[in-house]
Amino acid sequence: MPSPRRRFLRNIAAGSAVAPIAASVLAQNPAVTELARRPEPKSPNDKIRIATIGMGIIGFIDTDTALKVPGTELVAVADAYAGRRTRAGEVYGKNVKAYADYREILDRKDVDAVLVCTPDHWHAKMAIDAMKAGKAVYCEKPMVQKLEEGMPLIDAEKATGAVFQVGSQYAASILYDKVRDLIAEGAIGKINSVEARYNRNSAIGAWQYSIPTDASPETCDWDRFLGSAPKIPFDATRFFRWRNYKDYGTAVAGDLFVHLLTGIHHATKSLGPNRVASFGGTRYWKDGRDVPDFVMALYDYPDAGTHPAFTVAMQCNFEDGGGPETMFRFVGSEGVISVTFTDLTLTRLGMVPSSEAAVLKGYNSVTTFAADQQEIYGKKWRAENPPESIKMPKKEEKRWKVPAGYNERLDHFTFFFESMRNKTPVYENATFGLRAAAPALLANESIDTGRVLGWDPLMLERV
Ligand SMILES: NC(=O)c1ccc[n+]([C@@H]2O[C@H](COP(=O)([O-])OP(=O)(O)OC[C@H]3O[C@@H](n4cnc5c(N)ncnc54)[C@H](O)[C@@H]3O)[C@@H](O)[C@H]2O)c1
Repeated sequence: MPSPRRRFLRNIAAGSAVAPIAASVLAQNPAVTELARRPEPKSPNDKIRIATIGMGIIGFIDTDTALKVPGTELVAVADAYAGRRTRAGEVYGKNVKAYADYREILDRKDVDAVLVCTPDHWHAKMAIDAMKAGKAVYCEKPMVQKLEEGMPLIDAEKATGAVFQVGSQYAASILYDKVRDLIAEGAIGKINSVEARYNRNSAIGAWQYSIPTDASPETCDWDRFLGSAPKIPFDATRFFRWRNYKDYGTAVAGDLFVHLLTGIHHATKSLGPNRVASFGGTRYWKDGRDVPDFVMALYDYPDAGTHPAFTVAMQCNFEDGGGPETMFRFVGSEGVISVTFTDLTLTRLGMVPSSEAAVLKGYNSVTTFAADQQEIYGKKWRAENPPESIKMPKKEEKRWKVPAGYNERLDHFTFFFESMRNKTPVYENATFGLRAAAPALLANESIDTGRVLGWDPLMLERV
């Protein structure tokens, strides 16, 4: 990972006219600071030619984002569904060649980098094939669908020397850089736990994506979609809602825990947990899926030198009737950092001393002592704790937010192309990718087996 980039904080509470914020908000909380965007990338003289494999939802989003980085050009796409090949032509023009077979993209000498945006069960194979073909690879998360795909991918990255970046954009966010800096500065003292959740409350949120009316074996290349997955007859639901099936996806943990784990690993500089226990089931979305729609996992992170031991409680709930919520609480002995998609709040209070009233008259054991013992105890306590020695800390709260329209995915792509041009380390290499994907995959395995599982993030192996 490259060293932290410089950030400039601009305190909009000071009255800057650049970032408008409601006066009422400022009045309630004068300490909202806007995090500065990273410097705009310079326009290069050369062009990096990209091609996207998998033109589904994120394929279009990633391609659009990559094209916002100066010096990029889309030359080809690949997709197993004819309708998306047509759509790519409608959006990007007829000069962008659309293939059914991604290997035709890899054969093209004019393609410098590929974006792998296919279902999870294709990531490792396509990424390795592309690196062997001399391409740089931006591979969507989770990096692998199966644990055993991890080391071959890391080996291929090393052997080919290819620029390979996993597409978990939290790692590039100025928000998580701020969390990392605050933790490193000791703002929350000694970290002891992290609570993280990614909850949703809608059919689309629960992956019931729309299926086109022309879905058929004629328009969908079913064998190409299946790849190494078990051979079964064409099923449009599986083709378009593949996340709901173990054969192609990685369940809520592989889809969403990976984002949370990436944020945690980036913010704490951790390499990963060494124990995983997970619980959950399919409780609401009983639509034929064979993966849980509710998962709650515990991850134990050992003392790593860079941080003390801490425990993570993580959940993903697709039937949160309170509304969707994605959040973290990084908890330490001196304070807490609460993080949402767009802002973070540092609350500091620390461990508070007990007042005389609390010890002698409050919810404590003293009032249950016999009267003479209460008196003796009280005298002794007052002698040992003179009023001037009891200093009640004041609760402090500070908030930061990202600028309006901030897009961490754009930063992530900018880093990727910078690595290609400058030969600098990528922001999230294959080892980082496996360290985020493996604990998620182990959460699934823990539910399936009912066991607490061990993991060695240093060796990257099951223990
Ligand atoms: N980083 C993020 O924020 C983020 C967000 C969403 C999705 N993702 C990841 O992106 C990947 C794609 O997700 P999605 O929601 O776009 O899925 P999607 O189903 O919308 O798109 C996948 C596309 O891949 C195509 N495809 C399948 N097999 C193929 C093959 N062998 N060759 C060529 N094309 C093939 C499908 O036809 C489909 O168009 C997933 O791994 C997901 O986890 C990442």
